[in-house]
Amino acid sequence: MSLPPYAVRAAEDPADREACFAVRKEVFVGELGVPEDVEYDAYDARAVHVLAVRDDGVPLGTGRLLHGEAAAARNGGDPEVGSLGRLAVTRDARGLGVGAALVHGIEEAARARGLRAVDLHAQTRALGFYERLGYEAYGPEFQGAGLPHRAMRRSL
Ligand SMILES: CC(C)(COP(=O)(O)OP(=O)(O)OC[C@H]1O[C@@H](n2cnc3c(N)ncnc32)[C@H](O)[C@@H]1OP(=O)(O)O)[C@@H](O)C(=O)NCCC(=O)NCCS
Repeated sequence: MSLPPYAVRAAEDPADREACFAVRKEVFVGELGVPEDVEYDAYDARAVHVLAVRDDGVPLGTGRLLHGEAAAARNGGDPEVGSLGRLAVTRDARGLGVGAALVHGIEEAARARGLRAVDLHAQTRALGFYERLGYEAYGPEFQGAGLPHRAMRRSL
């Protein structure tokens, strides 16, 4: 199976941001049962949101990068480490490279901001996905939004 042409871009206008939030609602709230008031948080206002969208306008996936103080709060205070999160690809578009393209788009946004590494909290069942992309797990498993997670990091 292959996908129609699509692009990955920073969601800079309101319509693109709404598309990112709609994908998160479908995947995290609808599919994974994350409560809506946990899914959307105060970091959304300061994050770089990245959108994967088909050329005909259908959104396929999203993810976000936290940087500066918002990321340092999660990364032991290191301002040069960004934080990747809320990565989601719509069910029909999975397994076709969109998730990997989103991670690369977020890493590009991190490099453009002078960051030297990207940190993330991976659902335990998604560890293999991030390992393929060069991330290494560290620390113990913990619960986040009711799901088991591990911290992972990749140097840029
Ligand atoms: C995790 C997720 C973002 C992956 O997106 P995707 O578009 O399906 O992934 P890709 O097609 O880009 O996969 C890239 C590679 O990782 C592999 N992969 C995908 N999911 C995997 C998993 N759970 N475990 C191990 N490998 C995985 C793919 O087979 C592919 O390998 P290849 O490069 O050898 O072909 C997607 O499954 C998703 O949205 N899941 C629900 C939400 C979620 O769990 N988000 C992650 C929160 S931490």
